[in-house]
Amino acid sequence: MTVIASLSGAGCGGDDSAALPTVDCAPPVPTFAEVTAFRSNCANCHSVQLGRDDRQGAPVGMDYDVYASAVAVAEATARSVFDRSMPPSGGITAADTLVLYRWSLCGTPP
Ligand code: HEC
Repeated sequence: MTVIASLSGAGCGGDDSAALPTVDCAPPVPTFAEVTAFRSNCANCHSVQLGRDDRQGAPVGMDYDVYASAVAVAEATARSVFDRSMPPSGGITAADTLVLYRWSLCGTPP
C-alpha cells in the first residue's frame, strides 16, 4: 500500500473535483501494451469486441483495447481509478494502478 500512499494528493489546479494522482513521469513510461489493467480490469466492459448489450453499461466507443480510444479519455481514466469509481468492483492491484496512472498521465505512449 505504500505505492498508493505515495500517489495520494491532488493534481495540479487545486480543484478537488478534478483530483488526479501525482505521478513520477521519469522514463521509461509504460507503453499502452504494458498497461495490463486495461485488459484485466477494464476490457470486460470497455471493449470494441463487445456489443452494446454486453458492455454492462460502459459507454459505446470507449474501449480500453483500442489505443486511440484510451488516449482520448486518458485523464478521465486516471481520475476514475483514483477516485475508485472504476473498475466498479475494484480488484486492481497497486502495481497495476501505478502503471495505469503513469501511462495515462505521462504522455500515453503507444
Ligand atoms: C463491470 C463493467 C465495467 C468495468 C470492468 C469498468 N467499467 Fe468503466 N464504466 C462502466 C460503466 C457502466 C460506465 C458508465 C457509467 C459511469 O460513468 O459510472 C463506465 C464509465 C467509465 C468512465 C467514464 C465516466 C468516468 O468515471 O469518468 C471511465 C473513465 C471509465 N469507465 C474507466 C474505466 C477504467 C479505467 C476501467 C478499468 C480500470 C473500467 N472503467 C472498468 C463499466 C465498467
